[in-house]
Amino acid sequence: MRHLMSPLDFTTEELDRLFDLAGDIERNPGKYSHICQGKQLATCFYEPSTRTRLSFESAMLSLGGEVLGFSEASSSSASKGESVSDTIRIISCYADICAMRHPKEGAPMVAMQHSSIPVINAGDGGHQHPTQTLTDLLTIRSLKGRLNNFTIGLCGDLKFGRTVHSLINALIRYDNIKFIFISPEELRIPEYITEKLKELNIDYEEVISLDDVMPKLDLLYMTRVQRERFFNEEDYIRLKDFYILNKAKMAKAKDDMLVLHPLPRVNEISVEVDDDPRAVYFKQALYGKYVRMALIITLLELN
Ligand code: NCD
Repeated sequence: MRHLMSPLDFTTEELDRLFDLAGDIERNPGKYSHICQGKQLATCFYEPSTRTRLSFESAMLSLGGEVLGFSEASSSSASKGESVSDTIRIISCYADICAMRHPKEGAPMVAMQHSSIPVINAGDGGHQHPTQTLTDLLTIRSLKGRLNNFTIGLCGDLKFGRTVHSLINALIRYDNIKFIFISPEELRIPEYITEKLKELNIDYEEVISLDDVMPKLDLLYMTRVQRERFFNEEDYIRLKDFYILNKAKMAKAKDDMLVLHPLPRVNEISVEVDDDPRAVYFKQALYGKYVRMALIITLLELN
């Protein structure tokens, strides 16, 4: 039985097959509308979510399956002190597959070890967010036609942003990717990641100014400052509006650069950018549904 804890759980060939399946689902949704009939997805969310949980639920419903679950720890037995390992044993009795989000890094991994159904990590603390990465990769592959030969700028909260950590992990397997990390000093990319890039001889630079690097980028991945992972509110307030992508900055970018964002957006992308054809973050959320449909089919071994 397979689970999804990290984007690296799939080889690049397996990812290609997953993305091909997502593409087929996008083109022929009717073909897949009953494939999960009689199957149930449990969404166990111990942390807030809009897109991830609803796209999982929408994905399962669009495949003809059913969904059950909880959307906050306070409405589950976690509030009575139940452990994740006990909860997953129970969920395994009621559902065929489980998507779990948890504020503690590694919690979905603990669940996986005690589960008799596939477990999907839907975000664990500041660690990983593999299904967002699948979403990001599918978006890039669909709109650019390739997953290699890019300069990608990752901007904002590179310290706490799990989507960034997951995406870098996945992109280093493709050829000729150059990373530009754009962040304030306090929110720099963790050293364990830059160490890994050095070891693998992957090109990267760390900068503070977004303006300066705009013309070099093929992809710009914006992120929100992760308020919930800060130790004090003053630091958050000082840093939250450090970057605001606006029309003036977009004017410096290549004509075919794409702007991605895992969402939710707070202030880091001005709404005036939304109409720019290079802003693809809302499209990206739709790819998130197709890729989760493909993932559910793959983990339930229905294809
Ligand atoms: C991201 C997350 O939860 O890490 N959201 C999402 O799932 N699309 C990004 C974020 O919350 O900033």
